[in-house]
Amino acid sequence: MFISFEGTEGVGKTTLIHKMFDHFQTNGRDVVLTREPGGTPMAEQIRSLLLSVNHEESMSHDTELLLMYAARAQHLKQVILPALAAGKIVLCDRFSDSSFAYQCAGRGLSRDKLKLLNDNFVEKMPDISFWLDAPIELGMTRARERGALDRFEQEKVSFFEKVRSGFAELHRNEPNRMKRLDATQSPEQVFVDALTELKDLS
Ligand code: TYD
Repeated sequence: MFISFEGTEGVGKTTLIHKMFDHFQTNGRDVVLTREPGGTPMAEQIRSLLLSVNHEESMSHDTELLLMYAARAQHLKQVILPALAAGKIVLCDRFSDSSFAYQCAGRGLSRDKLKLLNDNFVEKMPDISFWLDAPIELGMTRARERGALDRFEQEKVSFFEKVRSGFAELHRNEPNRMKRLDATQSPEQVFVDALTELKDLS
């Protein structure tokens, strides 16, 4: 099973993923925890390029999208597909839905560009994706408390509102795969809700 975790900044994705990881391990399941952009040494280098605020030139939106997919292609081949083939559960912190929400809904790139890349370079979409949804201000306060802001975290509230509406659009279009979790609740309740969705799936 391939599960991804999505949402805007500071909505508690990391907490939920770790709870889920512990849950599967405790139940004796073989589970892999990974993230995007990144997840392999080469893809992590691409991540550094994407998140760095120290570029001498501004990164074009097309470059950003292509780098996301370059990292994803490497990650799929090296980590995700082999793990799934070996019968493992893969928990991934962000995947293609983030490209739709951030690069299309947020940056304004066309859906056609993303579709071209996703159709050709993503062999396997998650079986289920959790969208942790919370008001933007709440998450941004949490992100600011974590320290230095990366290139995305430095964006304005209006950008993240667009990203959030992108996730909402995905949820509307693919309700069976893209599950919304109310991330304003306690981490424990978010976890319980996620487990309920997983039980419904099996
Ligand atoms: P992440 O480390 O998950 O950020 P956070 O912990 O703040 O949620 O992801 C890094 C950033 O990359 C995040 O701001 C969202 C962005 N991103 C995209 O814009 N497109 C993508 O396809 C992915 C995977 C991430």
